[in-house]
Amino acid sequence: MIPKIAILSSGNGSNAENLVLYSKNAKTFEIALIISNKESAFVHERAKKLGITSFTFPKSEFEEGNKILELLTKNSIDGVILAGFLLRIPPVILQAYPDRIINIHPSLLPKYGGKGMYGMNVHQAVKEANEQETGITIHYVNENYDEGNIIFQAKFAILSSDTPESIASKVHELEYKHFPKVSETVFVNKK
Ligand code: GRF
Repeated sequence: MIPKIAILSSGNGSNAENLVLYSKNAKTFEIALIISNKESAFVHERAKKLGITSFTFPKSEFEEGNKILELLTKNSIDGVILAGFLLRIPPVILQAYPDRIINIHPSLLPKYGGKGMYGMNVHQAVKEANEQETGITIHYVNENYDEGNIIFQAKFAILSSDTPESIASKVHELEYKHFPKVSETVFVNKK
């Protein structure tokens, strides 16, 4: 049996889609569910197109967690991938999935992590600080934003001509390249 994974996404969902396409091709793990905290998130459109069931839960349920945990358990979910998910994961889910919840962050943590550091905020801060390089971090999730153990990082040099927008697009390229394979390694090895 291959590991069954749920993706949590708050927004656009391009990483979620990339993970689904990779898993359908590799057949080493299955994305069984997509869960969001936003009814209007574009990730639901992507889910529909890909034939993956998607759900929305309100913020309060992401604070409490029991209904989400029930859904995960009912679907025999082995692990959770956060791909552009902006809320904290409740303790009840962290306890049920020790070292089985991973996140991708669009900077080289511990730099540019923590509350408020998401999306373009990250890339603007990187550019303003005149950083010479940036990249992506894939890490385990714990009760604090962006502080779990690091699994993988990849980076690139920032050119003086780079803008926050061009940095964002280079970061996305790195995410698409590495996130599926790193997720596969994490979850397939655990099964
Ligand atoms: C990605 O850059 C990811 O690192 C961050 O949020 C962004 C999500 O983009 N956590 P998308 O929704 O996958 O398009």
